Amino acid sequence: MRVAIICAMAEELAAVNEEISFPLVNTFTKASNTYNEYRDGENEIITVVSGIGKVNAAITTQILLDNFAVDAVVNVGVAGSLSPNLTFGDVVVATDLVEHDFDITAFGEPLGQIARMDTFAFAADSSLNSKIVTGLQLDNNQVVSGRIVSGDQFIDNADKAKFLHAEFHALACEMEGAAIAHVCYVNKVPFAVIRALSDMAGQDGAASHSFEDLKYMAAERAATVAKHFLRGL
Ligand code: ADE
Repeated sequence: MRVAIICAMAEELAAVNEEISFPLVNTFTKASNTYNEYRDGENEIITVVSGIGKVNAAITTQILLDNFAVDAVVNVGVAGSLSPNLTFGDVVVATDLVEHDFDITAFGEPLGQIARMDTFAFAADSSLNSKIVTGLQLDNNQVVSGRIVSGDQFIDNADKAKFLHAEFHALACEMEGAAIAHVCYVNKVPFAVIRALSDMAGQDGAASHSFEDLKYMAAERAATVAKHFLRGL
């Protein structure tokens, strides 16, 4: 199986890299990003740091799909919590994703609907998701499945966090997952998104501080889940 791992930040990929024992066979640089290709017999892992935000994520995903015939794309990283039932280090495996800042409500469409697209939310691949969660047990954190929303905004506001939770029934917010999902959807490539919570998206009034303090811990939790998946390849 050929699997791509996309992380927005180097801190997130560093945590995943610790587990990749396959030999590095190729590196490829395009549009300021480097794609690392690791191979071990039938299995291959391609890793890349996309940079932050939906455009960076989309550029990277399309280049990845154009240059490596991957069977699946997995986005791994950190997110803000939108749920009162989830806390720091808990992991959300996305069932589906919505671009929460896509707004054509002026035309009577729901917030998040992409113009002229045949779906509202981009559904993650259910068989990838079951490989990710089957047999998985984290020592101190929950792993839950649910919707993730993405936008070009770091959410550090209690009202906005509550709004996103109520409007989209989303468990977590971040800045890339739905863009990666969108690109995979139009290319018909299965994808999954694994995000661990680094902050409460402002529900505790401290998302940016919490993010800086806890991003390594959260990146490590998300990577633990990704490693469980990679070991099962
Ligand atoms: N990534 C991690 N925390 C986030 C937040 N609060 N908003 C957007 N992206 C995030």
